[in-house]
Amino acid sequence: MIDKDKIFIFDTTMRDGEQSPGASMSLEEKIQISRIFDELGIDIIEAGFPIASPGDFEAVSAISKILKNSIPCGLSRASKKDIDACHEALKSAPRFRIHTFISTSALHMKHKLNKSQEQVLDAIKESVTYARNLTDDVEWSCEDGTRTDMDFMCKIVELAIKSGAKTINIPDTVGYTIPSEFTKIITTLKNKVPNIDKAILSVHCHNDLGLAVANSLAGVSAGARQVECTINGIGERAGNAALEEIVMAIKTRNDLMPYTTGINTELLSKASKVVSNATFPVQFNKAIVGKNAFAHEAGIHQDGMLKNRETYEIMTPESVGVKKTSLVMGKHSGRHAFKEKLNDLGYVDVTDDIIQSAFGKFKILADKKKHVYDDDIAALVDDSMISEKSVINLKSLKVFAGTGEPQRAEMTLDVYGEVKKTSETGDGPVDAIFKCIKVLYPHDVKLQLYQVHAVTEGTDAQATVSVRIEEKGKTTVGQTSDTDTLVASANAYLSALNKMIIKRKKTSAPIEHETQKVKGI
Ligand code: KIV
Ligand code: ZN
Repeated sequence: MIDKDKIFIFDTTMRDGEQSPGASMSLEEKIQISRIFDELGIDIIEAGFPIASPGDFEAVSAISKILKNSIPCGLSRASKKDIDACHEALKSAPRFRIHTFISTSALHMKHKLNKSQEQVLDAIKESVTYARNLTDDVEWSCEDGTRTDMDFMCKIVELAIKSGAKTINIPDTVGYTIPSEFTKIITTLKNKVPNIDKAILSVHCHNDLGLAVANSLAGVSAGARQVECTINGIGERAGNAALEEIVMAIKTRNDLMPYTTGINTELLSKASKVVSNATFPVQFNKAIVGKNAFAHEAGIHQDGMLKNRETYEIMTPESVGVKKTSLVMGKHSGRHAFKEKLNDLGYVDVTDDIIQSAFGKFKILADKKKHVYDDDIAALVDDSMISEKSVINLKSLKVFAGTGEPQRAEMTLDVYGEVKKTSETGDGPVDAIFKCIKVLYPHDVKLQLYQVHAVTEGTDAQATVSVRIEEKGKTTVGQTSDTDTLVASANAYLSALNKMIIKRKKTSAPIEHETQKVKGI
């Protein structure tokens, strides 16, 4: 058998992924995600941007201590201060990578850096050499690579390798390239850079034109051997290339892409759930991990599937860890079965208190609702996880809605241990509910999104409400479910607010000015 080339999978869910609006993850969530990623077989985990905030530093440092297989990595600009912070956060790991980058397109050099080509060349030499003295695993990236002059790119890639970079990453920072152009860029680097064989070429594609995965695969076919991606494709703006799509495309079309990855694909679904629990829901029709990815609705398709699965199925749900059962448990199911189910659904490391609280809610739901599905259970655990850390909690809610009268809500909240009550009217019941919260806990945030969808089918289905709020450029998302849409709305808003309170604390430490500067890359 011919040995297939290995494609290294570099995950940046907790760094670039976290830069998506509303995707900030707590330290506990990042640790939980890292454990799954380690098991999943990810080669390199970019755990954060240590200089950016004390929270990022702490996360990179904690993750570096727990990884058993994956190599931890931190991001730094081309500055000694950034590289030192990276090194400090990573150094307890037996092996680690420092990833340093600088913008190289004419546009970025002029308007963002205000530097000439010569100054950028000096910065590359200095930063890569500095990092190389701290570790032999240095990755260098040319930000806005796909809009960089090709002759200049050949020169800087050669310099970065000469200065000690072992991995050269070519980002399509603004998701601008197309597969044929990206193929040409990678091929040119392979052909023109004299020392290119001393480094691994990597690709890092954003999805602004919906081409991130196609461009990454074009890069691989042209000779790149590392792909940077995120679970569920989360990331700045339209996101990054989705890890699960890259891996399954290589696996499914191995006839045309004869490469291997170290990913245990049966854990993809679990990884996706753990990430979406910490960030936001995955769209139903998302490839590989969307709820509908393996659902066959049309009669003609179902008929074909019954005769031979391959008629309409190019990969099996089992190959990505999707279990067939979706109708799960009833009111007679015990605590042990419930715990097992949580594990199956990707909820690992859940505390006994959360299990107890979710189990209580499950029993109440099972009494109300004929069928309790996997997604219902996932929604209950999410709620229990959120309320565990909350400082503002809903005690009671009554809503007066319908035609005629103005809609009114009566609410009791526990605010930092103090029970407070109010009654407000609004433009509709949801508006009245949100007004009550504002009166009981005065705050000034912008509501960016309010969305409702049913968790499962039927009029007795739970509704999941998602709320995104924004305060001084920071966003948080709250998501909760209940058979009562208005209760879910109140709790979703409170969840986003509780997260904002945590976020305020996390980023109010001394190097906040760095956070703002850095996250504005
Ligand atoms: O998109 C980008 O250019 C990046 C770099 C920092 C690698 O995320
Ligand atoms: Zn990026």
